Amino acid sequence: MPVYLDNNATTPVDAEVLDAMLPYFGGPYANASSLHRYGRAARDAVDRARSQVAALVGARAEQVVFTSGGTESNNLAIRGIAERGAPGAVLYGATEHSAVLEPMQALAQRGWQVETIPADAQGQLDLPWAEHRLGDGDVRLISAMRANNETGVISDVTPLFAAARAAGVTTHCDAVQAAGKIALDVTELGADLVSLSAHKIYGPKGVGALIVLGDTDLLPQIVGGGQEDGLRGGTENVAAIVGFGAAAAAAKAKLAERAEHARGLRDPLQMQLQAMPGVQIFAADAQRLPNTLQFAMAGFDGEALLMALDQMAGIAVSSGSACDSGKGEPSHVLLGMGLDADTAKGAVRVSFGKHNTDDDVQALLAALSQLNPVNSRLMRSVAQ
Ligand SMILES: Cc1ncc(COP(=O)(O)O)c(C=O)c1O
Repeated sequence: MPVYLDNNATTPVDAEVLDAMLPYFGGPYANASSLHRYGRAARDAVDRARSQVAALVGARAEQVVFTSGGTESNNLAIRGIAERGAPGAVLYGATEHSAVLEPMQALAQRGWQVETIPADAQGQLDLPWAEHRLGDGDVRLISAMRANNETGVISDVTPLFAAARAAGVTTHCDAVQAAGKIALDVTELGADLVSLSAHKIYGPKGVGALIVLGDTDLLPQIVGGGQEDGLRGGTENVAAIVGFGAAAAAAKAKLAERAEHARGLRDPLQMQLQAMPGVQIFAADAQRLPNTLQFAMAGFDGEALLMALDQMAGIAVSSGSACDSGKGEPSHVLLGMGLDADTAKGAVRVSFGKHNTDDDVQALLAALSQLNPVNSRLMRSVAQ
């Protein structure tokens, strides 16, 4: 049996979600923009899903813009704000996902002043630094994530968004990892734009949403048939959107249950790892997503440990963000939290999902103690 401990990279599509989607491949397959009864049935399904996604995050249905996923939502938010006006300054958190970093770098190449808000060793952003920077008057956008995909750190971004609002600056929050794992209410969060993705919550890949609050004025990045209130052209992927809606409804209904289940696996694993020689846990004292744990084992590069766990025991973990893995670079998230490059290169992430059991934890612990160079040395000296 595979031991899949990489649920922050993606989750399997839930059976109920698949059941909800299947009819829209072979049955009511019409274009949701068509005016005939078949088109109207597809439109109804999209609208139902829109309400379900809105309900997960305390938004109104008309604030939901469906996209192809978290990456597109981040691009729509960042480029969509920036391209509405002349270049100025944009700020983003030091631990953001590459789906924020890359659009920011694209702005830098076009003359924007792009700056990183520093983070501390527990992954929290430096609010006084940002408040001071806002005082300069040239900042046009701030992007800060709610929960980090690698460390699981939950950032208290609301005061930052409040300061930005007071300064008249638009704010974006990447909530792709937070939604469905911790309670999330966009009004309490206080950002103008919030990114979501379906495949992190047992929905299909390739569908997500940008929640657009207030009268935030965005320049659409994909234009065509005027779908999604003119903000995202292209025939709606009805089956995927229906799947996102079903996944969001289940995530809302089972939020506490799923969080408790994940914590019931993560916390005992953390205790056992803390007792293992040579193991370092990252952001252990921070408030984190209940399913996530990132650590390093002395003597191991993160990717080498990942491959060893895969080959030896069929255990799937990640050496950082799935989008950055294979690049051999230390995690920019850990570097951003002040860790040195060697320590950061050792990072391995475990992210639990609803299918994991205590057997998976035991399998991981057994494999790690077999691999742990300190234990191997001990075992060798006992054998001699
Ligand atoms: C924090 C965060 N933002 C954005 C994304 C990108 O989302 P998607 O895979 O839907 O494009 C991810 C996915 O790994 C993520 O973890």
